[in-house]
Amino acid sequence: DWTMANFIDQEIDKIRDKVGNNKVLCALSGGVDSSVVAALIHKAIGDQLTCIFVDHGLLRKNEADTVMKTLGDGFKMNIIKVDAQDRFLNKLRGVSDPEQKRKIIGNEFIYVFDDEADKLKDIDYLAQGTLYTDIVESGTETAQTIKSHHNVGGLPENMQFELLEPLSTLFKDEVRVLGTELGLPEEVVWRQPFPGPGLGIRVLGELTAEKIEIVRESDAILREEIKNAGLDRDIWQYFTVLPDIRSVGVMGDARTYDYTIGIRAVTSIDGMTSDWARIPWNVLEKISTRIVNEVDYINRVVYDITSKPPATIEWE
Ligand code: XMP
Repeated sequence: DWTMANFIDQEIDKIRDKVGNNKVLCALSGGVDSSVVAALIHKAIGDQLTCIFVDHGLLRKNEADTVMKTLGDGFKMNIIKVDAQDRFLNKLRGVSDPEQKRKIIGNEFIYVFDDEADKLKDIDYLAQGTLYTDIVESGTETAQTIKSHHNVGGLPENMQFELLEPLSTLFKDEVRVLGTELGLPEEVVWRQPFPGPGLGIRVLGELTAEKIEIVRESDAILREEIKNAGLDRDIWQYFTVLPDIRSVGVMGDARTYDYTIGIRAVTSIDGMTSDWARIPWNVLEKISTRIVNEVDYINRVVYDITSKPPATIEWE
């Protein structure tokens, strides 16, 4: 009968049979699916797996470290970490249109991955964290067209690898069970959805390193307080955004003219529709106070109380 332990054993056998003595490449994003697929394949073939982890500089606070610590140090996986922050930022200079930003980030990701993959020898397989739902949805065009949802984990079309997709019969909740069974930590397994373009679509308009830092720091405070309040499993997705507006404030005796941070927190089943989360006021108050006190250039915090539709979850 079907149990997760049986599934793991069967998949390990299948992977070993298929791969033999060959090598497998995997693109790690830090997300649940790619982490689980890497952990599973690593359990099957160990050092025959190499992962490439592209840090585009648009990740959340400590995210890159967590990936390197849990999978690199903890699981002893071969991970090539590419620090491509400058490369992405240069490409994005002067660009403020959301779709344009997505396209540039998605393409650049592929170029960076390609460059690294080219340096490796004798790779025959490419592992991907494709789920059952990914296959079903791409077949029926239910995927959103309002925004181009580039899966930034998407890979070059001209690559000469055979695909390895051991999660393709699983749903998201089963992937979480699998991840837990494989020993991945809770913060990886229960990670909230995070878009491929990352913080790049949460700084509205043109990106600068300073603005990305503002979002990263405020987002870290928000996540910490949501977790402290025990709400991290109830709220489907929560993050901060930096709209390109400044307003007047007062700090001590001085007038300030600084940025506003928006908080977005939603409940949802699948991201297609959502409602704004009714976060208790005292929790919001704490988040607001901390953000204004701890993040430079912020003098105002607002809470987004729009559902989807008519708004989208992200602001870009
Ligand atoms: P929206 O903003 O369209 O978001 O209501 C719905 C869900 O999709 C995520 N999202 C993206 N994910 N690349 C991604 O991989 C993207 O460009 C992208 N845009 C939005 C969003 O975070 C939410 O979970």
